[in-house]
Amino acid sequence: MQIIETVAALRSALKHQSHITLVPTMGNLHAGHLHLVALAKQQASCVVVSIFVNPLQFGANEDLANYPRSLEADCEKLDAAGVDIVFAPSVIEMYPQFDGQHLNQTMTVTAPAIANELCGASRPGHFSGVATVVAKLFNIVMPQLAVFGKKDFQQLHIIRALVQQFNLPITIVAGDTIREHNGLAMSSRNSFLSADQKNTAAQLQQELNAIKLQIQHGSTDFNALILAATERLQPSGWLVDYISVRSALSLAPATTQDQSLVILAAAKLGNTRLIDNVDLLR
Ligand code: PAF
Repeated sequence: MQIIETVAALRSALKHQSHITLVPTMGNLHAGHLHLVALAKQQASCVVVSIFVNPLQFGANEDLANYPRSLEADCEKLDAAGVDIVFAPSVIEMYPQFDGQHLNQTMTVTAPAIANELCGASRPGHFSGVATVVAKLFNIVMPQLAVFGKKDFQQLHIIRALVQQFNLPITIVAGDTIREHNGLAMSSRNSFLSADQKNTAAQLQQELNAIKLQIQHGSTDFNALILAATERLQPSGWLVDYISVRSALSLAPATTQDQSLVILAAAKLGNTRLIDNVDLLR
C-alpha cells in the first residue's frame, strides 16, 4: 500500500489506472469505514482512501482542533484491508491559498437549500465545506466510483446532488451503517463518549426505530411521534437538536403520500454531537 501526501504524486501513481474507487474519510477509522472499503474492494478496481480532516466543514465553535487523528493506526487497518493507496494530504496541499489562519480565499461549492436544514441548521456552511472538499477529491483522484456511508444521510444526499448537477461521471455507492452491539451507530466521535455515555447513546437508535415501527403500523402524526421520542430522550441527558421524518428521495418533510421515508436525528450527549437515521418503506 502506498501512502501519498501530494496531488502531483497521487496523479502520477494513478496515471495508468483505468478503474479507480475512492473512499473519502477524515480518518480515525472504525468498522463503519472498513465496511465502505470492503464495498470498494468488491469493485475490483484500484482502491484509494483519502484521509483528510477538512477544516472547511467545521464551524468556528466546532471540534476541528480536537477531532481524533490517528494516521498510523488508520494506515495499518487500510493496509490489512487491501487498500492500494492512502491519500493523506496536508491542509496546505488541499488548500494552497490557506495562510495559516484563514480559508477565506477559497473557491467553494454552494450547496442547495436543503443543506440549511437538519444538520445544516445548526452547522451553517458545513455542507458547502463537504461538497467543496469532495469536489476537489473527485477532481484529484478522478474515480469512476466513490463510496459514502448512509449514516451521514444528508451528506450522501448532497453528494448525489453534486454529482448529478455538476455532471460528474462518478457512480456513488452507499454503504449501510455499521453498529456497535447495542445498536449505537459507529462514528469517529464515539471515542469522545464515556462507557456510561456509550450505553445511553444506544437510546437514539432505539427511539428512531420506535418511530419507524409506529409509522409502519399506520401512524401519520409525525410531529406527535417526534415529540414523544424527544421527551423520552431528555431525562437521560440528551439535548435533541432535531428528529425529523423526511422523504428518503428528496429529504423534504415527509407527506402521507411518500412511500420511502427516512427518520433522521442529531442530539448531543454531554459535549458530543451524534447523528443517526433509519429508513423505511411504507
Ligand atoms: O464523512 C466524512 O468523513 C467527511 O464529511 C468527508 C465525506 C470525508 C468529507 O470531508
